[in-house]
Amino acid sequence: MPDTKNKSIETRLIHGESKSEAWDFTKPLIPPISASTTFRLGSVERGAEGFQAFASDEFHKNPIWIYDRLDEPNTLMLESQLAAAEHGEVAVTFSTGMGAIASCLLTCLKHGQEVLSHQTVYGCTFSFIKNWLPKFGISGNFQDLTKFTVDMVSDKTRVIYFESVTNPTLEVIDFEKIRTAVMRLNKKRSEDDQILIVVDNTFATPYGCRPLDHGADFVVQSLTKNISGFGTEMGGAVVSSKKHEASLKLARKDFGAVLHPRAAWDINVHGLPTLQIRYERQQQTASAIAKYLFQHDLVDAVHYPGLENFAYKDVAKRLLKSPEGDFCPGYMIAFKLKRPDSTTVDFVNYIAKNAYSITLAVSLGLTKTLIELPNFMTHAVVDEETKKSGGVSPYLIRMSVGLENFKDLKSDLDLAFQEIKK
Ligand SMILES: Cc1ncc(COP(=O)(O)O)c(C=O)c1O
Repeated sequence: MPDTKNKSIETRLIHGESKSEAWDFTKPLIPPISASTTFRLGSVERGAEGFQAFASDEFHKNPIWIYDRLDEPNTLMLESQLAAAEHGEVAVTFSTGMGAIASCLLTCLKHGQEVLSHQTVYGCTFSFIKNWLPKFGISGNFQDLTKFTVDMVSDKTRVIYFESVTNPTLEVIDFEKIRTAVMRLNKKRSEDDQILIVVDNTFATPYGCRPLDHGADFVVQSLTKNISGFGTEMGGAVVSSKKHEASLKLARKDFGAVLHPRAAWDINVHGLPTLQIRYERQQQTASAIAKYLFQHDLVDAVHYPGLENFAYKDVAKRLLKSPEGDFCPGYMIAFKLKRPDSTTVDFVNYIAKNAYSITLAVSLGLTKTLIELPNFMTHAVVDEETKKSGGVSPYLIRMSVGLENFKDLKSDLDLAFQEIKK
């Protein structure tokens, strides 16, 4: 079998390992889908061996399939691809991004500990930390981690949590700086008490950033977004080092947020192999749209890492890179109009009702260009004070650029601008 480790990541995401521990698919070009939730065990001894090996190294050497909630061939194939893409040792998949985030945090934390989180994170992540973790005696401390200082860390802090590119404000947090401080703090802490850095890499994807290379302990992903890419599947993943694999798999088994094999197959066969080509094209168009918006006389501010005036330009240039080392400003844009109040709502409503190539919808990273107002939608659950201090103003528009022709997107935006100028 050829050594795949020296091949480029985009080629590996298309061909996988050619022979997987999960399944011998050397004959079919595309791996088959497993449609069985349970597996014949053959003997009590084999069944017992399978349960014994679950969530251990033994499983990888000689997989004994038992039941889909434990392990499953299609998800295992996807997990090996995700681990390779994120430069991690292992990946564990979940039914959704929130399934991955909740399972990862509950794996890391216990009663009495605290999550130090960036103030601006995806709305449901905010809600999970703010509303659910306290029920288990775990507190959330929301701060502006773009201005991280060690004073923000307390004795109770076990997890530092943020998004590599924040949703929806597109801030880029200097996680190398945080890692350096955490390494110093961890020297004084016991093994069980080490501070762990968890980074949500959903916006950037492993094509645009690999946080594990910069010292994160865990990467969480919503596979529903650009990794899946076509808007047909939901999924999530946690990528980390081998020592965390067992507890993540136990969390998945007991919380039950498993990825459906059909979704795993789809992401493995359609999503990941096309990620690079989709991302590059979306990024090229997003750069053109960001410049167009920046020059528009009705636009007040544009947040896009590729613009010269981007507030976190130096950090972005250091951290947002393709596997080949090229700067990856991405495909997400946030912008504000000069005349806020109801004009913004009129602008977005005009697009919702009249645009051909832009759709008012949540989610992101898809083939279709999507627009939304986070304040009223994806981040509606966040309290007003946190939204205000994080810059999630009611008039911030979030745009996820798809694969359409730039000219068509521009013409839809032109028409919406003409409408609000009236
Ligand atoms: C940054 C980020 N993380 C996590 C999630 C949650 O993912 P899912 O919808 O797959 O649960 C989202 C969803 O929008 C997101 O934008």
